[in-house]
Amino acid sequence: MRVTEEDGRMFAPAAGRNRDAIEAVLAEHLPKAGNVLEIAGGTGQHISHFAQKFASLNWQPSDIDADRRASVDAWGRYLKLENLAAARHVDIGVKGWADELNRVDFIMMVNLLHLISQADMVNFMRGAADLLHKDGRVFIYGPFMRDGVLTSLGDEKFHADLRARNPLIGYKNIEDVVDNLLGFGLEVKAQIEMPANNIALVAQLVN
Ligand SMILES: C[S@@+](CC[C@H](N)C(=O)[O-])C[C@H]1O[C@@H](n2cnc3c(N)ncnc32)[C@H](O)[C@@H]1O
Repeated sequence: MRVTEEDGRMFAPAAGRNRDAIEAVLAEHLPKAGNVLEIAGGTGQHISHFAQKFASLNWQPSDIDADRRASVDAWGRYLKLENLAAARHVDIGVKGWADELNRVDFIMMVNLLHLISQADMVNFMRGAADLLHKDGRVFIYGPFMRDGVLTSLGDEKFHADLRARNPLIGYKNIEDVVDNLLGFGLEVKAQIEMPANNIALVAQLVN
């Protein structure tokens, strides 16, 4: 990742590559109006693009990292987006991370689950279920194990690298993720195979 402009906008090649495929899924599952929260937004390439494309929605970016939040805000200024709020500090590893945030209709999180522990994943889901209005949805995108199996050499290597760095992190099993979501009342409505062996999940708060 590098800063591409003096105004602080960062550009991550991966976010450019998967953006359009994610947009196609969002087009099917976003509400027509309401509030969207992005967790772990990174550079802001995604949310600034989606805020343009889905202009009837209000978009709240967040990330744990100050430089990335500055990049998100720089993208918003660059594109003159009135429906993109200032990026907030959110760390889904902290208990009660959702307590200070406004309720929302949709939460999206792209490429974070494999970088966090199982405990942090569950903490994310608990907070997401608290934050969502009834019938609200959560969108999760990333690489997963299927039935405990890593399905490509690239995935095997990436998972092993992550585990070597921290034994608590790495790819999650998609079936386990779906079960955990249901434990918080989040019923998976769509599980979509995405390019480069990724999966998109859309779950809805049913109670
Ligand atoms: C691989 S990047 C993905 C960024 C963006 N969603 C994308 O797809 O381009 C992971 C992001 O997660 C953020 N992050 C890491 N740990 C986090 C945590 N505990 N809570 C919230 N964000 C976190 C990092 O700062 C980084 O921006």
